Amino acid sequence: MDIGLIGIGLMGLPMAKRLLHTGNRVIAYNRTTAKLDPLKAAGAEVADTPAEVLQRCEAVILMLSDAPAIQQVLLSDETRSHLTNRTVIQMGTIAPSQSRELQQAIAAQGGDYLEAPVLGSIPEVESGKLLVMVGASEAQFQKWLPLFQNFGEQPRLIGEVGSAAALKLALNQLISSLTTGFALSLGFVQQQGVEVETFMQILRQSALYAPTFDKKLQRMIEGNFANPNFPTKHLLKDTRLFLEEAIASQLRVDSLEGVRQILESACDAGLAESDYSALFAAMLPSIGKGIS
Ligand SMILES: NC(=O)c1ccc[n+]([C@@H]2O[C@H](COP(=O)([O-])OP(=O)(O)OC[C@H]3O[C@@H](n4cnc5c(N)ncnc54)[C@H](OP(=O)(O)O)[C@@H]3O)[C@@H](O)[C@H]2O)c1
Repeated sequence: MDIGLIGIGLMGLPMAKRLLHTGNRVIAYNRTTAKLDPLKAAGAEVADTPAEVLQRCEAVILMLSDAPAIQQVLLSDETRSHLTNRTVIQMGTIAPSQSRELQQAIAAQGGDYLEAPVLGSIPEVESGKLLVMVGASEAQFQKWLPLFQNFGEQPRLIGEVGSAAALKLALNQLISSLTTGFALSLGFVQQQGVEVETFMQILRQSALYAPTFDKKLQRMIEGNFANPNFPTKHLLKDTRLFLEEAIASQLRVDSLEGVRQILESACDAGLAESDYSALFAAMLPSIGKGIS
């Protein structure tokens, strides 16, 4: 099958490679053309514009940063008219309300839209172990299931458009809250002179433990936030999106407001492109003083 993929960033690149690996033809577009070079080498075809991708493919996967980027790339005057009889599969992390607006805008052009946000990062793309959550009709889900199975073993239909986007934000809220909670306790035991390994041994035996703590521990201890799979700026984006939607749903979000401020401090301190465990740096007095 010919699949278009727009957005060849940290996730788009391995996703395109995965599709090639499983026998699909991929036609890719990226704003920064240099990022397409490794894909060309892997056998993908590249397009000069998003409109060209739509002309050449029945279905197009979007793996762009956020809703404003999607708006610019897909709904511009030059591109919009090419959406007729095309299916857009949005796999980035955006808000449910943004996803529903996108569905309407694409339907107005005679196109079809579904969402399929994912949990998991670059290693899970490479091993085909992403958790793919689909917001679509039953018929759309069945039609595109074989495509989703390239990325994950058990893609799940969550409900109509917006429901999978909401579930994805709920999960990413846990990434920011759990990581911030862990970073705070880690910083505290370090400041209090408790051995980190003793803290971890007790934590690992308790019901409080989450595997993500050990995944981020070494980076935090070493202050090494280089070569991210998931950068701080995107976790901040997702935290802000969650806050907007949760406030509209009249939930209390005081705790997450604090998490957002910590993520903003980390980004302001030059750690926006770093691994999101860099939020730990925003909590340390030595670094935190300068960036509060
Ligand atoms: N990384 C992860 O582990 C992960 C996991 C699950 C979901 N996600 C979500 O998936 C999406 C992509 O993530 P990522 O990590 O691959 O992000 P990324 O590396 O920052 O890539 C973002 C992509 O969007 C493009 N883009 C941004 N603004 C644009 C604009 N105004 N016009 C045209 N293109 C634009 C970028 O193009 P350029 O190359 O030209 O900048 C790039 O291709 C995000 O919504 C993210 O939250 C990420």
